[in-house]
Amino acid sequence: MRVLVTGGAGFVGSHTVVELVAAGHDVHVVENFCNSERWIVERIERLTGQSLSLDELDIRDREAMRSSMHRFRPDAVIHFAALKSVSESTQQPASYYDVNVTGTATLLEVMREVECRQIVFSSSATVYGQPEACPVAEGARVDPGNPYGRTKLVGEWMIRDCASVPGAVLSAAILRYFNPVGAHPSGLIGELPRGVPNNLAPYITQTALGLRDHIRVFGDDYATPDGTGVRDYIHVVDLAKAHVAALTLLSAGEARALTLNLGTGRGYSVLELIETFSAVVGKPIPYVVQGRRAGDIGECWADPTLANTVLGWQAEKTLEEICADAWRWQQACVSAAE
Ligand code: UD1
Repeated sequence: MRVLVTGGAGFVGSHTVVELVAAGHDVHVVENFCNSERWIVERIERLTGQSLSLDELDIRDREAMRSSMHRFRPDAVIHFAALKSVSESTQQPASYYDVNVTGTATLLEVMREVECRQIVFSSSATVYGQPEACPVAEGARVDPGNPYGRTKLVGEWMIRDCASVPGAVLSAAILRYFNPVGAHPSGLIGELPRGVPNNLAPYITQTALGLRDHIRVFGDDYATPDGTGVRDYIHVVDLAKAHVAALTLLSAGEARALTLNLGTGRGYSVLELIETFSAVVGKPIPYVVQGRRAGDIGECWADPTLANTVLGWQAEKTLEEICADAWRWQQACVSAAE
């Protein structure tokens, strides 16, 4: 298939491009590099063994999108391009609505113009907010607790509305990611947080490398087995493969607007993650328990049964592989910067 990928140099985007090419798809990336690096493109090319077709543009630029889509004529779009920091979204909500909502609306309009009829949308488990119970299935109440999550939910609504127009031809897979972590096993691509990481996994690898003094464990008084927060950490390569499976499902004409949880179905605590990383790194990684982080929840893990069933996919990589791959990538990043 001819697949246009927005945000294809980002963390999940870059891994998905590699899996798409490996599956034989013809890929074109649109990317503005606002939160990714140009050298990732060369890394993708090394992994795929072919040059990457790419337009540097902003998805809100309707003319640029039109021109790119008219030339490439995609059968399907995978839409990653978005702003993704929860904390930043509370400081700059209008920017988040502009990029994540206006950008998605522009994309949907241009898709209609060029008669592109399939979309895979990068959403987040953040849309659930504080879950009433775990594991969380797709029918659970949605109530995002921050602007970032709300922009993702609006994106979902827009896509579902477009797919329910009478006589509509759009079909969609809305993928709600739990906590994407890990890196490509080659060590060539991975997550590139700017500044001090907000997320736990990059904070752990940076501490293991001595770039940070210690991990701050945000709360040990949650109603969880060891009191620390529990999350469903999913390897980014498993996540990328789910996107390829979602495309296959859409192209078979078997979905209209399908919403799927992408997680492993198993939760790990902050301390379990630190312990597993310590074992992989071969030394203890220092941490200090602090108070809870505002807006955090105690536990959140997925019921991925629907994705397992309809996609014929399941997350396969273990927590040890997640830690080993993230650690390899962290070390490679530092040696590249030296
Ligand atoms: C966060 C985002 C979510 C996003 C996800 C991407 C929030 C409220 N949610 O989820 O929208 O999709 O990242 O991976 O920010 N922790 C520490 N110390 C740290 C960092 C985190 O103890 O320095 C703890 C947290 O309290 C939590 C767990 O580690 O229990 C995971 O945190 P994090 O990686 O930030 O992910 P989420 O908060 O689950």
